[in-house]
Amino acid sequence: MRPADLIRFKQTGRSITMLTAWDSLSAAWVEAAGADAVLVGDSLAMVALGHATTLPVTLDQMLLHTQAVERGFQSLPSAQPLLISDLPFLSYQCGEDLAVQAAGKLLKESSAAAVKLEGSEPEVVSVINRLVRMGIPVMGHLGLTPQAVHRMGYRRQAEDPVSQERLLSKAWELEQAGCFSLVLEHVPADLAGKVRRQLTIPVIGIGAGDDCDGQVRVTADLLGLTAQQPPFSPALLPGRELFEQALRNWVSQQSSAPPTTEEPPPEPGC
Ligand code: KIV
Repeated sequence: MRPADLIRFKQTGRSITMLTAWDSLSAAWVEAAGADAVLVGDSLAMVALGHATTLPVTLDQMLLHTQAVERGFQSLPSAQPLLISDLPFLSYQCGEDLAVQAAGKLLKESSAAAVKLEGSEPEVVSVINRLVRMGIPVMGHLGLTPQAVHRMGYRRQAEDPVSQERLLSKAWELEQAGCFSLVLEHVPADLAGKVRRQLTIPVIGIGAGDDCDGQVRVTADLLGLTAQQPPFSPALLPGRELFEQALRNWVSQQSSAPPTTEEPPPEPGC
């Protein structure tokens, strides 16, 4: 799967699915589920590394986890989902050259074929333009952008007409800068629909209603594994309880079972 395939899916009206993965195990699950794209999101900072926000994860950690995800895929490279890696906080905000180096490292040292980054400030739009010109496909991310948590929190974005107009024009700017798709997180559904109709690139929603070209979810949220479930991404099963109960059962069986000494088999002829 390639970035251009996602654009083709939008043109033909086929809905796009994207799931996150953070290690080889989760990569095998989401590939087996048939996701079109797999995102090594910086949410791995919270899902897998125990941080309270996405901010602390480093470029080297993103690379390590992207490589682990790549090793988890079971099918031939030509049949694998599109692998996208998030550019972490401060890997693209400190100048275009550093952003090219960071994104280039992810694409050189893993089989990621695209990067995702957040926001639409003029500096970010220039970075996107430069990355795309250097041959690095970029997925944008607007609405709730977790790397800006200290400025905007985790609340729903673009609720009033002025900020909705602003988001519509920012989305268009990202398309003009060369993004091949756009994640839209935690915004009103009718706004997501307007963005979808305005853009030729696919709009992939999370907490943005059904009128999108595709949907993305944090796999650990869908599986009910995360401690704090986002309100817009309900779990499909109580994964955490199921895992804990299974392990509790095993531990209590082991601790109540008396040790058994195996009798050696009788010697032949005795
Ligand atoms: O980091 C992540 O997992 C993401 C998704 C919420 C789209 O950016």
